[in-house]
Amino acid sequence: MLVKRPLAPELSWFPQARFGMFIHFGLYALLGRGEWVMYQERIPREIYEKLMRRFNPRRFDAETWVRTAVRAGARYITVTAKHHDGFCLFDSALTDYKITRTPFGRDLIGELITACHRHDMRIILYYSQPDWHHPNFVNRPGAFKDWPEPRPGDAPDWPRYLRYCHGQVEELCTRYGRIDGIWFDGSHKSEAEWQGRRLYRLIKRHQPHAVVNDRAGYGDFFTPERRLSAAAAAAGYMVEACQSVCQDAWGYKRDARLFSAHYLIESLVRMAAAGGNYLLNIGPAPDGSLPPEQVRRLLDVGAWLRAHGDAIYGTAGCPLREESDDMLYTVRGNRLFLHLLRWPVGDAVLLRRLRYSPRRAFLLKTHAPLRVEAQKDGILLRGLPSLPPDAAVNVIEMRFDGPANKVLLSAPRAPRRRPLIFVPGAPLTLSASDATCAGFGTKGTQIVVRTLREATVRLVREAETYLTNWSKPEQRAFWWIECPRPMRCQVAVEMACPAPYAGSTFTVRVGGQTLRGTVPATRDERHFRRVRLGVISLPAGVHRLCLAPERLQYGYVFANVRCVVMKPCPQMHHKLLRR
Ligand code: GLC
Repeated sequence: MLVKRPLAPELSWFPQARFGMFIHFGLYALLGRGEWVMYQERIPREIYEKLMRRFNPRRFDAETWVRTAVRAGARYITVTAKHHDGFCLFDSALTDYKITRTPFGRDLIGELITACHRHDMRIILYYSQPDWHHPNFVNRPGAFKDWPEPRPGDAPDWPRYLRYCHGQVEELCTRYGRIDGIWFDGSHKSEAEWQGRRLYRLIKRHQPHAVVNDRAGYGDFFTPERRLSAAAAAAGYMVEACQSVCQDAWGYKRDARLFSAHYLIESLVRMAAAGGNYLLNIGPAPDGSLPPEQVRRLLDVGAWLRAHGDAIYGTAGCPLREESDDMLYTVRGNRLFLHLLRWPVGDAVLLRRLRYSPRRAFLLKTHAPLRVEAQKDGILLRGLPSLPPDAAVNVIEMRFDGPANKVLLSAPRAPRRRPLIFVPGAPLTLSASDATCAGFGTKGTQIVVRTLREATVRLVREAETYLTNWSKPEQRAFWWIECPRPMRCQVAVEMACPAPYAGSTFTVRVGGQTLRGTVPATRDERHFRRVRLGVISLPAGVHRLCLAPERLQYGYVFANVRCVVMKPCPQMHHKLLRR
């Protein structure tokens, strides 16, 4: 299992918090080109290390950081204790590559935790298991976030590195009093490699109220990045979507392009309506100060939350129960909140998903009451002003006599696909677009269907599709097939996967039989090859065919899948009928 579901009761503070402030800070801030600068510019470790001598974030003030989070309306802070460059912002006993060995000389993480305790702010520590500095870290060419080639000074030794990594996590859990979570960032290696379950147990042993994210392969919640994943939340998983106010970096970047406050508020609302948290990042400047333009974004969100926080904190989401893409719900007790992401044309909104009328309705920001009219096709709320009271998202609160959650119609069920029927003697192609996909991958992603040939070609040839974005063995694709009579078939799968990612193994299961295969290396991820798996016999009737990975290359790469082809075997077929 990838993450635990449902969330344990002692972790209920986390979904209630709904909004957190993320902070990426480290040596990289000095260069002002984002937190990946060491990797992107292939800076040798002994050169990068020298940044330590210059690292002196004199203007760092834990109080200011925490107070900024409070003013932003954040209910927790997640801060990088160590990022991929391996530099520690805490006073680890296991390395000298740490902040207390810089001219600054203070334990930034310790000070921040103390300030959080003072303000009753929850604190989660980001800890990167990938480490571009530690000599024992084992790099594998092609694995995302691993250093791409061997370097002088490397002494790969996985057990030793794991001891270091687990040891540091234990330090973070035992040296600073209460912490509220550990946020890993190594989703390009498997749970087995990180020993994610052991890490999880270690954290819970010391900090039972701490949440653990999914990026060591086992945790309490999914962490989609720079995008929202309502589907995982709708499936009952805890989800926290992270986003940076800067469009192209998490750590400090000079002249960074920023997202608009409007966009960030809208994202927060979309995530809350899906039932998840939103974690918004800023990257402090090298001197430890918070860049004013980034702070402005956070404070804009904070101002919105001051007026609309009732509709966010402590609410439950209503995934798949929205009125439309721009009219979303959250719910708390007898209160239902309608979030208007676009201001309606005209002075009314018609709600079609309510079973009955609210006792009263009003605009949350101004408390201006609205008239409630039950109509044949829904419930009409009348009396909206012509200009929206808020420039970003507006909220209408509705009060009911009973639990407002019961008022909303339930989510529509996805229709079950019709089986694909064998035409006697002809091969049956189970295409990507006919597949039903299940399960969640790295960071809560899903398998997606993409078009191989563009729409214009569709006129002469049917558009071809393929399944992609497949990153965990828990993810499966299946098809319903119908055999009009008993038959034997050759089964093959068409896959694309360039080296060095080829080599994952997978199964095809149907009619109680299992065939196995290995992903071949192909020219690129859009050139497909057919892998023959073997023969199966199927009785007449409807069957479910399931394609699932077994062992994934790098623990996270499968393949693009165009189709499963089932080719009836003629002679065998006759024999079978004669029997
Ligand atoms: C991405 C970035 C990494 C950042 C993380 C936050 O993985 O590469 O630098 O810390 O997002 O989710």
